[in-house]
Amino acid sequence: MEDIKKRIDLLKSNLKKWEYEYYGLDNPSVSDFEYDQALKELIELEKKYPEFLTIDSPSQRVGGVISNKFEKVKHSFPMLSLSNAFNKESIQKFIDDIKKINNKANEFFVEPKIDGLSISLIYENGILIRGVTRGDGETGEDVTTNVKTIKSIPLEIPYKNNIEVRGEVFLDKKTFEKINLESDKKFANARNAAAGTLRNLDSSIVAKRNLKAIIYNIPNPEEHNLFKHSDVIDFLRKNNFMIAKESELCFGFDGVSKKIDWFYKYRQEIEYDIDGIVIKLNDLTLYDEIGYTSKFPKWAIAYKFPAEIVESKLLDIKITVGRTGKINYIANIEPVLLNNTIVSNATLHNYEYIKEKDIKIGDYVSLFKAGEIIPKIIKPILEKRRDVIEFNKPTNCPYCNSKLFKEKDEIDLYCLNEKCDARIIESIIHFCSRQAMNIEGISKSIIKKLYDENIIKIYWDLYELKNKKELIISKDLNIKYKSFNNLINGIEKSRTNSLERLIFALGIRHVGEVASKQLALKFKSLNNIINVSINELLKIDDIGDKMAISISNFFNENNFNKHLEKINKYQINTSFINEFNDIEIKQENTKYKNRIVLITGSFSISRNEIKKILTDLYGCKCVSSISKKVDLVIAGKNYTQSKVEQAKSLNIEIVYDEFWN
Ligand code: IVH
Repeated sequence: MEDIKKRIDLLKSNLKKWEYEYYGLDNPSVSDFEYDQALKELIELEKKYPEFLTIDSPSQRVGGVISNKFEKVKHSFPMLSLSNAFNKESIQKFIDDIKKINNKANEFFVEPKIDGLSISLIYENGILIRGVTRGDGETGEDVTTNVKTIKSIPLEIPYKNNIEVRGEVFLDKKTFEKINLESDKKFANARNAAAGTLRNLDSSIVAKRNLKAIIYNIPNPEEHNLFKHSDVIDFLRKNNFMIAKESELCFGFDGVSKKIDWFYKYRQEIEYDIDGIVIKLNDLTLYDEIGYTSKFPKWAIAYKFPAEIVESKLLDIKITVGRTGKINYIANIEPVLLNNTIVSNATLHNYEYIKEKDIKIGDYVSLFKAGEIIPKIIKPILEKRRDVIEFNKPTNCPYCNSKLFKEKDEIDLYCLNEKCDARIIESIIHFCSRQAMNIEGISKSIIKKLYDENIIKIYWDLYELKNKKELIISKDLNIKYKSFNNLINGIEKSRTNSLERLIFALGIRHVGEVASKQLALKFKSLNNIINVSINELLKIDDIGDKMAISISNFFNENNFNKHLEKINKYQINTSFINEFNDIEIKQENTKYKNRIVLITGSFSISRNEIKKILTDLYGCKCVSSISKKVDLVIAGKNYTQSKVEQAKSLNIEIVYDEFWN
């Protein structure tokens, strides 16, 4: 028995070493055959002696577990995305803005922007215990069994403190081509194939696809005594992670600019698709001070290469109607490869654009992608023009046939018929969307089918679906018992959403996600908002005349009573839900309002949660280094002595309590 355990341990440690040599060092010392033989032997031994099977065993790499769904997991730190720069001037501005805050900041880490999917990996005592997808940035899905099949992700690392690392899962170009050749289902690009694979419920399929992962981030580096991004990368390398070997530390704008040119020149030679370059300030201790916009950090930016321009044939122009009635023009083109993706649709803005550019059906056209998912048509290639058909300006809605309307001074055409099927379907899709009521288990196609079958006629009807199980399943809607239950769960859950989601979901003209959140935060309940005057609305940041009038009209129209009836009938929550409900926050406490705060030491909840409370609820700016600008220092257990001493010498107020007490 002792011998068997020894043999298993040896196989495990050899396999782990070989995986690291192959993926981490790019320098294998054994052949694939030798690796496969050892893995086979290990699997057989573990089958015979299951008492020796451990969660970090390389045998987990072959998968086998079939899940029925992935559990939702809340990220301990939000997974952020990056703002984009499309030219070097924006990079210069990015650097200048940082220098305005700290003149000495001059080192930038320049990395490839891997076109894959972000992943968060959690290690406890050096053992990989969880892998979670990005999801919406706040909550992701637990894909641990799939992640364990990715050989470039170590199952065990030398560092034994609990740690979370983040990076990108991808398929390299060669593997992608192979998969697309072999499988019936063709993916548009390597990223889609990787996404489909990572979320596959059968982990043995994932194991066969040979995903890889490059790691580039630790969300709380300072807690692991890492103060530079280059140190983070060294740390990751030493802990057997695959890192992007093309990355480089660069100095000032000139250094960054040279490296950008280098990446542009050699991008085809990199083994995976990249969709740009990421530039990160190397000094992590300045991150808090440099801060964040509502969506992105200001200490990093993604540089996108100049747009690729390709040609294709314009087969047709289709008209669609949005939920506000706006008419959109979609070009159907012959499928063409653009920025690593096969595209068959492109946007044409509006009729004036089509006319001005003299675009005709049957033309060869040039197109490009400018950051958006759907590409744009630039112009027709007149030299190639043969048989073409003029595209005529629409006069009537293609769905309800009502006369289209154009506001004075506006370019776009609108269908004003509120009963237009296309508009209603779009409004239901919007209501269910991730940013609005976030109804899981529903899709655009289900919504369309339910609408076409007369089962739903307005988004409120969704809340009646639970009583129509037999009817829905009996119709040929491709909704089975299980998906029906998921659908109902998703719908029921949405009744308890916080107010801002409901406001956004109602589809009030001009009111986006940010304004919805501000309204909810300020007025706390739908009832309060209904009676608010335009003047009061205008006092809110970001709410201008147009929006204020639109909000006021929406709530004062007769139609709104019908909405209100449904909201009451289906008991949909109409109050703002404070995410931090378990912590009693004294809102009237003005001590924290709009101040620059430094937090040091530890508290009963994580520092990140405290920061979120301070920024979201009190409008504070949280910084990590002491300066005259700081208004308040909050010192928890084991606070950094020097920070508190400096605060004292600068006469900065210090709060020693847990601040919400
Ligand atoms: S850093 C706050 N570095 O790009 C820092 N992201 O648009 C967050 N990505 O969601 C990301 N390569 O999925 C970073 N070298 C890299 C990256 C990278 C690819 C992805 C990542 C992120 C998205 C941001």
